[in-house]
Amino acid sequence: MDKILVLDFGGQYSQLIARRIRSEHVYAEIKSSGDMSCEKIKEDGYKAIIFTGGPNSVYDPASPHFDKGVLELGLPILGICYGHQLMAWLAGGTIEPSKQGSEYGRTEAVFGDSPLFEGIPSESTVWMSHTDSVMQLPRGFKGTASTNGCPVAAMANEEKRLYGVQFHPEVTHTSFGRQILRNFLFRIAGAVPDWTMEDFAETAVLEWREKLQGKKVLLALSGGVDSSVTAALLHRAIGSDLSCVFVDHGLLRKNEGDMVMSVMKDSLGVNVIRVDAQERFLGRLKGVTDPETKRKIIGEEFVRVFEEEAKKLGSPQVLAQGTIYPDVIESGRGAAAVIKSHHNVGGLPKDMGFTMVAEPLRLLFKDEVREVGERLGIPKELVWRQPFPGPGLAVRITGEITREKCDILRDADAIFREEIEKAGLGELPSQYFAVLTDLHSVGVMGDHRTYGSTIALRAVATDDFMTAEWSKLPFELLERASGRITNEVQGISRVVYDITSKPPATVEWL
Ligand code: XMP
Repeated sequence: MDKILVLDFGGQYSQLIARRIRSEHVYAEIKSSGDMSCEKIKEDGYKAIIFTGGPNSVYDPASPHFDKGVLELGLPILGICYGHQLMAWLAGGTIEPSKQGSEYGRTEAVFGDSPLFEGIPSESTVWMSHTDSVMQLPRGFKGTASTNGCPVAAMANEEKRLYGVQFHPEVTHTSFGRQILRNFLFRIAGAVPDWTMEDFAETAVLEWREKLQGKKVLLALSGGVDSSVTAALLHRAIGSDLSCVFVDHGLLRKNEGDMVMSVMKDSLGVNVIRVDAQERFLGRLKGVTDPETKRKIIGEEFVRVFEEEAKKLGSPQVLAQGTIYPDVIESGRGAAAVIKSHHNVGGLPKDMGFTMVAEPLRLLFKDEVREVGERLGIPKELVWRQPFPGPGLAVRITGEITREKCDILRDADAIFREEIEKAGLGELPSQYFAVLTDLHSVGVMGDHRTYGSTIALRAVATDDFMTAEWSKLPFELLERASGRITNEVQGISRVVYDITSKPPATVEWL
């Protein structure tokens, strides 16, 4: 299998570059430039390299650099943005702050003759985001594209198969970006497009069957996409040697527990133990109002339940986890891991006596995980479901959590989701749900005055959940949801729609 190295210099689009390459069915992996050397690149047998963008200036001594021997490895290289400048600099060219200042956004570029631009019009739109520019080309290079603000918008040393582009071909605003990446992969590097999820699923099943032979494996199944696909894959590999524990903490959405059991256990035949721990969790959450304390309690209790179940199952040696590629890259980068720390239910303790961890999806992006899930026969509604936080409804009920409040929220949330799903929207919001606030307000029903709770509806569109836009849902849809919630759910006298984006708000209310 051909592998492309995405050598990361700290650019915000590094993952996007790798995803774009993989969508051409070529395997790409991201490595931080600080963790790689020319020797390592040779050893690892890459077909080609992409230098990513980065926030720095090549002249800044603190900016990430690389051994210039990388240009002599004989591998095709495509430098993007900072990567383009770094390539020029390593090859002896000069870089300076652009004369016309920063160039940001869509710009018209004129393309010259180059295998990289084969099949694209001589003028088209590119996406720019830079302050420095290549001023003097290195020896052996020629300029192959320009914009008004950037004379060397692209360069090439065709003999050595070294290419640089100042703009971002991975961003869809660059009209022919996809074609440019394809030209690099297939025309220039000669990569073979053999990375398919069908092959991945088949190979992974065989590989894990061999690795786990004779071992007992335990997985905490949340019902989310990652753990469900992990379960389906390992079930194919080792059948009943995999045991999954599905903890029902009483904070799940309406019918969620039954749905997960019916898909995973009844349809796919996965060995799943459903633990009804509702009383335990609600008991420990009694009187607690602080969101972080709620998360902590749920995390701790989850680990306890999981440990007890592991013991009952004779303490399996192997822990399976639904780790996926962005988790791997982000924890390698350090900073991003911190943002996510509260996002995983407590994590599992290191001293549970597992001798091995199985993470069959650790090389896959989310869209690839979903595709593998479909290939393994998991129904679309589970594979394409929106994310749901580990602490569940606990982060959607302000104030104290009670079973009654959970029931009210479950009903309101189910109505809102149903209305959204049947509204025939072009694209569903990335996440949509109801929140039960502890704000009470006066209402009127028939001739009676009521004093009920307020439900807030939230729907957002986002690619990465780091930032999110509130969804501009049609008023008619909101009206239907509001009408049904106030009519069908006891105790709700008011429904509001949350029109805050992230930042400054977060997606969840708590
Ligand atoms: P925020 O609220 O941080 O949410 O903007 C971003 C994404 O993370 C999810 N989220 C959580 N997921 N445990 C989780 O597993 C949590 O404690 C948690 N808090 C937020 C949220 O649903 C959204 O998808």
